[in-house]
Amino acid sequence: MMKRKLITFSLLGSIFLGGCQAGDLPFMKKNKEEQEEKQSKSKTDQKQEDLQASSEMTIPEGSYNVTKELNGKNVIQNSNNLLILVNKEFTLPRDYAPADLVKPNVNFSFRESDEEKSFLRQEAAKALEDMFQAALADGIELYAVSGYRSYQRQELLFEAEIQQVGREKAVQAVAYPGTSEHQTGLSMDISSKSSDLLLTESFESVPEGIWLAENAYKFGYILRYPKGQENSTGYQYEPWHYRYVGKETAKNLHEKNYTLEQYFKTGKKI
Ligand code: DAL
Ligand code: ZN
Repeated sequence: MMKRKLITFSLLGSIFLGGCQAGDLPFMKKNKEEQEEKQSKSKTDQKQEDLQASSEMTIPEGSYNVTKELNGKNVIQNSNNLLILVNKEFTLPRDYAPADLVKPNVNFSFRESDEEKSFLRQEAAKALEDMFQAALADGIELYAVSGYRSYQRQELLFEAEIQQVGREKAVQAVAYPGTSEHQTGLSMDISSKSSDLLLTESFESVPEGIWLAENAYKFGYILRYPKGQENSTGYQYEPWHYRYVGKETAKNLHEKNYTLEQYFKTGKKI
């Protein structure tokens, strides 16, 4: 008797549940379908986001350093590359000087004309002019302090810094000869009268420093040694040092808050 009751119940049950998987009731099926739809939608969204992120961070193959090991150093062979990465890991050849150095038409912090440090590579110089002009239109007066620097001048500066503060501190502030971005002709140190035309950390909080930090990327420049990124860049914070990388890369780096080192580590090679 007991056995028949059980059989009847399971028969009824299977009619009632017809078409459903074990444990699924019709209302549960609807919920499950909705859930699956939601999940697949969020997967699609995620995929799109990933795609967007990776497409923003694509790096053309020609932008990577091509290096050769010489005396234990990674010496860059394609030094004219506009996205060149020069740091404690990658060195420029001792005799490298860009062939297209020009003097931008901007205010300088010094009087002597045609000093080596006035120069920048052509594309960077044009972008600097555009940036200084746009700043002026916003009531911001910028001064160029130091641009191109030869290997030999970097040697002098490096030695002078060691004499002044000792080697340990010097290497956090001044690049070893051959590893300064200034030798690429793509970097400019910038100041303002409000900072006494000096390269000082307080430049970050004067209107000129704030304007640059917010707007430089629009002209293809990045703040190369940001605060809190000392481990990534290898240098202490320099609110005055701007590096030309072109508008697209500058925008990507600005939006993602990435250093040039992080860009090359996380970007997708195309
Ligand atoms: N101050 C920067 C790191 C240079 O010497 O190039
Ligand atoms: Zn600098």
